[in-house]
Amino acid sequence: MLLCKCPQLTPLQARFVASFTALCLLGLVFWSLSNPHFAYAAEIDLGEGWAGGEGGDHNWHRIEQDIAEDSGGNEDSDWEELKVLDTEVVIGARQEQLSAIAGNDQANNLNVVAGQTTVWRYPKDLLQVQHADVGVGLPSALEEGNDGLGPMEARRRELRRRDLDGEAAILDRRQANTQIPVFISVNTCLQPTYNGTGMQTAGPPQLTLYVSSDNENGTPGPGGDGSKQFAVPLDEGYAIYTLSTSDDLYMAVHAPDLTSDFAGGWNYDIAVSIDDYYHQANDTDPYLYLVDTDTNAALLVTDNLTQADTGSALYDKWTSLSPPFVMFASSSQNTKLMGLSKSFCGMQNNAQIQAQQSDPNATTSHVEMGMITRGLGDKPKQQFYVTSLNGSSTYYGTLAIKGNSTASGSGIVGGGGKVWQPMNWTTKADGNCRLVFNLDFCDKVAYAVPANYETYPDWPNLRALYDSQASNLYNNFSYSLQQTACDTTSDAQYSLARNCSDCEAAYKEWLCAISIPRCDDWSSQKSYLQKRNMAQPFTNGTSLPSSLLNSNYTPMLGAPTLQGSTAF
Ligand SMILES: *[C@@H]1O[C@H](CO)[C@@H](O)[C@H](O)[C@H]1NC(C)=O
Ligand SMILES: *[C@@H]1O[C@H](CO)[C@@H](O)[C@H](O)[C@H]1NC(C)=O
Ligand SMILES: *[C@@H]1O[C@H](CO)[C@@H](O)[C@H](O)[C@H]1NC(C)=O
Ligand SMILES: *[C@@H]1O[C@H](CO)[C@@H](O)[C@H](O)[C@H]1NC(C)=O
Ligand SMILES: *[C@@H]1O[C@H](CO)[C@@H](O)[C@H](O)[C@H]1NC(C)=O
Ligand SMILES: *[C@@H]1O[C@H](CO)[C@@H](O)[C@H](O)[C@H]1NC(C)=O
Ligand SMILES: *[C@@H]1O[C@H](CO)[C@@H](O)[C@H](O)[C@H]1NC(C)=O
Ligand SMILES: *[C@@H]1O[C@H](CO)[C@@H](O)[C@H](O)[C@H]1NC(C)=O
Ligand SMILES: *[C@@H]1O[C@H](CO)[C@@H](O)[C@H](O)[C@H]1NC(C)=O
Ligand SMILES: *[C@@H]1O[C@H](CO)[C@@H](O)[C@H](O)[C@H]1NC(C)=O
Repeated sequence: MLLCKCPQLTPLQARFVASFTALCLLGLVFWSLSNPHFAYAAEIDLGEGWAGGEGGDHNWHRIEQDIAEDSGGNEDSDWEELKVLDTEVVIGARQEQLSAIAGNDQANNLNVVAGQTTVWRYPKDLLQVQHADVGVGLPSALEEGNDGLGPMEARRRELRRRDLDGEAAILDRRQANTQIPVFISVNTCLQPTYNGTGMQTAGPPQLTLYVSSDNENGTPGPGGDGSKQFAVPLDEGYAIYTLSTSDDLYMAVHAPDLTSDFAGGWNYDIAVSIDDYYHQANDTDPYLYLVDTDTNAALLVTDNLTQADTGSALYDKWTSLSPPFVMFASSSQNTKLMGLSKSFCGMQNNAQIQAQQSDPNATTSHVEMGMITRGLGDKPKQQFYVTSLNGSSTYYGTLAIKGNSTASGSGIVGGGGKVWQPMNWTTKADGNCRLVFNLDFCDKVAYAVPANYETYPDWPNLRALYDSQASNLYNNFSYSLQQTACDTTSDAQYSLARNCSDCEAAYKEWLCAISIPRCDDWSSQKSYLQKRNMAQPFTNGTSLPSSLLNSNYTPMLGAPTLQGSTAF
């Protein structure tokens, strides 16, 4: 109903508004072209620049563009360009660079060198615009259980509700000078590189975000009046801050001094939004679990994405979704990621292995992705098969969402992406095991199995070998089950507690588990492992030494292994 209150324009009025707007725009363009001296921030008279107004905003934009052009204007800018920035754009004594936030939900990207402070102004006009479309979101919020609403979903609903208020509400907001919540976030995309001697043990120092909503403090930064600004040091390349305001906002990102162990500068994204944080990170939950590894691959799954029951609408929505998550993986030796683990763009620029949604079969990204329901409870999850890893190496894996999972970048609420806490795994060493999963028959199997890379270099062959062996064994069982009265009227049924399908499922699970043994490194000393099938000769005719063949089995708790029997 509120929508009806909007002023109705006649076609003539509408045309007038359109041409008047066009005229104003033209005027602005002309005006900006006639002010070329704003190309360098150094020439700005600070007081006048801060006074704001429409013209002021325009200058800010120009400065930003010039700098963006100087620096290549994107996240891929390399150190060469940073060095150019160092000498050409950095303003001598003041060491400040001034720019304007381009809009809500926009990534404002800038380079900064040691000791420099880059100042940003967010004009209050941007508070008085329509909320951006948050989109449909994932089928259910990730934090929620069966029915509870997580914080994200609650916010999403709140945003939808506000959007319904439309133009009228925006006008009201402007007139009443309402305080609007503003979400500020920063991600470090590039950082100085280590040029010291010896192993790098820590990342370079972190940037600091300063925020001021006080008109008397238009240049927040180190040494500013503490009562008129808030300082948020970045943590692992990430900082967020939120406040409610009805006025212009001033933000600064300050780069610390560097020790002689590091060279180069930083590159960061800063974003302001009236909808939600543009960059997000969850540093308390990896949300990602290791299933198993072999010598050069790892299989990982997300947490249960929902607790909804099989067959429910929500369950089907999740399983039919194209994989919404991506992930990053890097060797623990990769020091480039030190100090960037909470930054999506930092990961994007530095992680060795990156899943790509456009490449689900992993032809280039080395991560194959898919939705599965395997595992305890059979709940929907996303699976990652990470390949081309090195043996006996430790890797860090980070689950992430690119933008809002279907769109990313400027203009998208949360377009900067989200990362979770890194987790780690270590690949196997000996090459006697190989991961198998997504089998047609034994669909619950997902682990490393004994494998000979020489005999079965072809992975699909190996999977088919194990799977068809199990399904052949199962065939004879299903024939005998057909002789059993397990699916009939209750007075004739073999058992009232269980029917045929229960029996089939139980037999299949057992059969797959025993006919597809799980495998670990031959050299592994884990107490629960048993060496099996050791007496078989190798292809070259030799066998394992008899001392080994005659050694005793490790007694297993609760397993029917004969005490004192030999491995042979
Ligand atoms: C992502 O954002 C776009 C543009 O706002 C929107 O159309 C889409 O529905 C969003 N995706 C999700 C999963 O919310
Ligand atoms: C590392 O680079 C910085 C800046 O270029 C330089 O001052 C320092 O001497 C270099 N350190 C080493 C060990 O080369
Ligand atoms: C991280 O995820 C956990 C579990 O999903 C949740 O309880 C926690 O609130 C999240 N933290 C942040 C900062 O989002
Ligand atoms: C990925 O593999 C599946 C099954 O092997 C195939 O159906 C699909 O077309 C492939 N997609 C691409 C993009 O190659
Ligand atoms: C997934 O849900 C099932 C069933 O509710 C539960 O048993 C299992 O522990 C959950 N998995 C994780 C990783 O929380
Ligand atoms: C594997 O090891 C080689 C040689 O040490 C190295 O160049 C390569 O980056 C490593 N790959 C991964 C994914 O760790
Ligand atoms: C791997 O993660 C575990 C916790 O899950 C932690 O105790 C361990 O220190 C990590 N290893 C490395 C190399 O970071
Ligand atoms: C199935 O049963 C038939 C007839 O008893 C037998 O010849 C065959 O070897 C059995 N198949 C398997 C895989 O055990
Ligand atoms: C067998 O029993 C289970 C419950 O134990 C039930 O869910 C299933 O529908 C039954 N199957 C048939 C074919 O009746
Ligand atoms: C035979 O093959 C095994 C396994 O590949 C190897 O360890 C062994 O050294 C070989 N023996 C000879 C005599 O080549």
